[in-house]
Amino acid sequence: MYSQERLGRKSNPDGKASDARRRRAGYHQPMALHKETLPDPLPTEPLALVADWLAQATRSHVQPNPNAMVLATVDAHGGPSARVVLCKEIRPDAGYITFYTNYLSRKGADLAANARAAVVMYWDVLRRQVRLEGRVTLTTAAESDAYFASRAWQSRIGAWASEQSAPIASRAQLIRATDAAARRFGVPTPTASDDLAPDPGIAIPRPPHWGGYHLWVEAVELWVEGAARLHDRARWIRTLEPDGGGFRGGRWSATRVQP
Ligand SMILES: Cc1cc2nc3c(=O)[nH]c(=O)nc-3n(C[C@H](O)[C@H](O)[C@H](O)COP(=O)(O)O)c2cc1C
Repeated sequence: MYSQERLGRKSNPDGKASDARRRRAGYHQPMALHKETLPDPLPTEPLALVADWLAQATRSHVQPNPNAMVLATVDAHGGPSARVVLCKEIRPDAGYITFYTNYLSRKGADLAANARAAVVMYWDVLRRQVRLEGRVTLTTAAESDAYFASRAWQSRIGAWASEQSAPIASRAQLIRATDAAARRFGVPTPTASDDLAPDPGIAIPRPPHWGGYHLWVEAVELWVEGAARLHDRARWIRTLEPDGGGFRGGRWSATRVQP
C-alpha cells in the first residue's frame, strides 16, 4: 500500500501543509491559470480539431511521443485489453486515423475477431484528452509498404525478427532471431550502440504479417482541463456505412457533456 508514513515522511503536527498537499498544490498551480474551454459553438466536424491538437502537441515538444495513444481492443470472448501505439495519420476528410503493428500480435488477433476499437490520446502538459471509438480495417498493402519503407532499418529488421506477443524463452533467443533476419537481408545485426547507425541502403521488404489499420471514427470525445476544476467535455457521434473497403461517415451530432 502506498502511504506517506511508509515512505518515511513525517506527519505535520504543526498544521503546515503535508508534502503531498504541497506537491498537489504545485501540480495544480498552472491549472488555476489555465482557462481553456472547448470552442463554443462546438465544431460540426471534430477530427480536424483532434488533428490540430496533435499538431500543437508535436510543435510544443512537451513529450517525446506526442502521437502515442492507448488502443483498446476486445477479444473473441469479450475480454478487453489496451496498449500504447503510435498514431501515424489523422484524416478528417476520410474519417479515420492510422496505426501500424504486427497483424499476428494479440491486438491483431483481437481485431480479426472483433473489428472495433477505442483510442485515448492524452497530453498531460496541455491538459487535453481525446477519446475515439470506431471500426477497424486493414490499410492497403501499398499504404503499409510505403510506411514500412519509411521506418528505420533497425525497426524493419525487428519486424521480421519479432513474433510480437508470442512467448520467447530468453532475450538471447530474440537476439538470435534478429541476427538471422539481419543475415537474411545482408545488413549488420542492429545493436544498441548503432541506434543512430546510417541506413545500410539495402531493401528490406515489409513482412506480410506487418502493416496498418485504419480506425474509422464514429465517436469522438474531447476533454480539456478548465479553471477551478470545472473541466469542459463534448462528444460527437455519427453512423458509419460500409463503403468500398472502408466506411462513409454520416453527419456528426455534437453534445456538451458534464465533466
Ligand atoms: C510509446 C510507445 C509506442 C508504441 N508504439 C507501437 C506501435 O506503433 N505499434 C506497435 O505494434 N506497438 C507499439 N508499442 C508497443 C505496444 O505498446 C505493445 O507492447 C505491442 O504492440 C504488443 O501489444 P499486444 O500484445 O497487445 O498486441 C509502443 C509502445 C510504447 C510504449
